[in-house]
Amino acid sequence: MKKLKIGVIGTGSISELHFGSYAKNENADIVAVCDLNVERAQKKAQVYGAQYVYSDYRELLANPEIDAVSICTWNNSHAEISIAALKAGKNVLVEKPLCRTVEEALEVEKTVKETGKLLQVGFVRRYASNTAILQQFIQNNELGEIYYAKASCIRRLGNPGGWFSDKERSGGGPLIDLGVHMIDICWYLMGRPKVKSVSGNTYNKLGNRSNVKNLSYYKASDFDASKNTVEDLANALIRFENGASLFVDVSFTLHTKKDEIFVKLFGEKGGAEIEPELQIVSEKYDTIINLTPQIDSLSFDFVNAFQSEINYFVDCCLTGNETISPVEDGVEMMKILCGIYESSERGTEIHF
Ligand SMILES: NC(=O)c1ccc[n+]([C@@H]2O[C@H](COP(=O)([O-])OP(=O)(O)OC[C@H]3O[C@@H](n4cnc5c(N)ncnc54)[C@H](O)[C@@H]3O)[C@@H](O)[C@H]2O)c1
Repeated sequence: MKKLKIGVIGTGSISELHFGSYAKNENADIVAVCDLNVERAQKKAQVYGAQYVYSDYRELLANPEIDAVSICTWNNSHAEISIAALKAGKNVLVEKPLCRTVEEALEVEKTVKETGKLLQVGFVRRYASNTAILQQFIQNNELGEIYYAKASCIRRLGNPGGWFSDKERSGGGPLIDLGVHMIDICWYLMGRPKVKSVSGNTYNKLGNRSNVKNLSYYKASDFDASKNTVEDLANALIRFENGASLFVDVSFTLHTKKDEIFVKLFGEKGGAEIEPELQIVSEKYDTIINLTPQIDSLSFDFVNAFQSEINYFVDCCLTGNETISPVEDGVEMMKILCGIYESSERGTEIHF
């Protein structure tokens, strides 16, 4: 099989997972890299043997050798670069969130349709092995109709600073950064029901708490704590047309004892947790049972999930198969996320 020639745009933190996974995929070849910070791009090119290094993504896209790109830049350039890449005839894997606004998302979707190229959104949790196992249980109706889900990703101290905390470049704070994963994985496992309404609250109460000492946390490649225009907490209740509902809360910082993450789904026949660990809850012979699958990783395995996401993308590009995280789902997620911000601003429920 012909190898897929890859360009990686944006060579900061998350790009390492893309580079590492392409490097391990025998059908992919990393040929080009691009970053506004060209030294950062050069370092990656050296490590991964990429032939071309650019500081302007348009030059990378003009290279006819490149078949597909990973977009790992700040959120404000996701739509612009995706559209330009599709128009240049490249297939696209774009990091989550798809972009910052519904308008941008619709533009990207339109371009996918016009060009007929593939765009995969980086909803990496969909590709995790524990998700695939739970999906098998759900598709075999072990949970019955899922009517409620609850997800939480709470950092007590974890505003990454830099572009993450600059609303202009990120589109928002923990909701668009962490909430996108939490909402998407619930929505995906619930069978992607049509959203009916959202009611949300966001709070800017604690700032980024860069004053806190003696506790380390994840920081953007270009960490800078001087600007913080994003919320530090968001919560939302999402209603779906099939009657199901989803409750979510996420934070960059909160006065809480410890970090916490959970994702729980509740159905008529059974329930499940996928974070912090896969568990299935059921009832047999009038007895409630908790099932723990005996698998290598009950929790979300970051490295393996990325490998599986990249393998899926490469395979779709080479075979023409459809991705399991298409642009339409990226659009739907932007409607939900932007709906929550709008609901919070207006202090009322938003109906779609
Ligand atoms: N899937 C996940 O779990 C996950 C985790 C972390 C980050 N992300 C996403 O990955 C993206 C990057 O996040 P990060 O943590 O790597 O940030 P980062 O700040 O570490 O890296 C971003 C890089 O993009 C470069 N860049 C920005 N705009 C550019 C442009 N127009 N052209 C070329 N280069 C540009 C920056 O110079 C920087 O080196 C974000 O969209 C983020 O939401 C996803």
